[in-house]
Amino acid sequence: MTKKIILVGLIGLLLVLSIAPTSISAAGSGSEPTLRSLAEDKGITIGSAVATWPLLNDPTYADTLAREFNILTPENMMKFSFIHPSQDEYDFTYADAIVDFAEENGMEVRGHCLVWYKQLPSWLTDGNWSRDELIAILRDHIYTVVGHYKGRVKYWDVVNEAITGNGKYVESIWYNIIGPEYIEMAFRWAHEADPDALLFYNDFYAEGLNKKSDAIYNGIKYLKKYRSVPIHGIGLQMHANLDLHPFLDEMNAEVTANMQRLAKLGLEIHITEMDVCIAGDVTQEKLDQQADIYRSIIDTCLSIDACKFIVMWGFTDLYSYWNDNPSIGAAFIFDESYQAKPAYDAIVEFLTPEPEPEPEPVEPPTQPQRPWWWWFFRW
Ligand code: G3I
Repeated sequence: MTKKIILVGLIGLLLVLSIAPTSISAAGSGSEPTLRSLAEDKGITIGSAVATWPLLNDPTYADTLAREFNILTPENMMKFSFIHPSQDEYDFTYADAIVDFAEENGMEVRGHCLVWYKQLPSWLTDGNWSRDELIAILRDHIYTVVGHYKGRVKYWDVVNEAITGNGKYVESIWYNIIGPEYIEMAFRWAHEADPDALLFYNDFYAEGLNKKSDAIYNGIKYLKKYRSVPIHGIGLQMHANLDLHPFLDEMNAEVTANMQRLAKLGLEIHITEMDVCIAGDVTQEKLDQQADIYRSIIDTCLSIDACKFIVMWGFTDLYSYWNDNPSIGAAFIFDESYQAKPAYDAIVEFLTPEPEPEPEPVEPPTQPQRPWWWWFFRW
């Protein structure tokens, strides 16, 4: 009887094994390669900004994120106005939801952003702070936020968009009251709050060689070399559109040169907010151009050893910060129905390894030709 039960059990087990899928990708999507599975095979990191509302309310949004990406950046929920809404109150509810989701799905998180001149709460901007008071507020903010996510958020955009197109400091509450030292202070406090986190300066239109990227390069070089400030990386945002993007032919060499000089400073380079906007009607021709630009950005990044992180500022045109703008948009790699656009296919194709060459067929050894009498004398 026992033998019969064991036999039936074994047959059952064999049946289950034979109908189970043979290959399950990291995101459990079946056998089709995804951006995530292709990136992981190549040892690179690919991600998207995340908005909380669709993450919590649209299962397709959450499923697509987990399937296609291995790093997330909260689009807004870690910014000052959301996470620190009044002087004595921090609200981690929505940022926590994103970090929990990332952890449940084996993804990393880029924290964005600790110090910026935008999205500041009115209690902060309306205050009449002395320099010491504002320093104390910023220190408390950075210690509390980075401390809250210690060991969970590995990368932080510590200072965001602090330099103008002319290479000057952006006039902000931080610069005007504390002075340019706020940048150095912010990095030091973030490092004290989580010594294992990697700390970034993040900015836009500083991808090629221009006054802004020169100022950022020289500033970081000075802070690292002469002030030993813990800056580990630079975020190049890569907001682009079909007419103005850093990968027009004549600029491609500039972007590579800029990345190379930043890498020589010992910095990790992350592409942090990539998108490629289309103006006016969306035509097949424009979608193909968009695909070329996405592929070109990734190609250039991966040609530099220090550039192995690529994050897009969203992934579906359904939820896009561009949707407030009626004349421009369709910036992402999935359309409003989560259908892959040519840009998605172009990235998949680019990341797919070349097939192994077929081995040369081995000719079987041929019998030497013998004269007829050889067989006779053999005996
Ligand atoms: O949450 C409020 C809501 O309470 C209010 O009713 C509503 C009314 O407009 O506004 C909501 O806040 C909006 C917020 O996004 C959250 O959705 C703000 O108006 C809106 O201005 C804000 O836009 C964000 C923008 O940064 C602010 O400058 C975008 O979503 C976000 O994608 C964008 O992200 C920036 C990066 O952080 C830095 N680099 C550039 C990038 C694109 O601009």
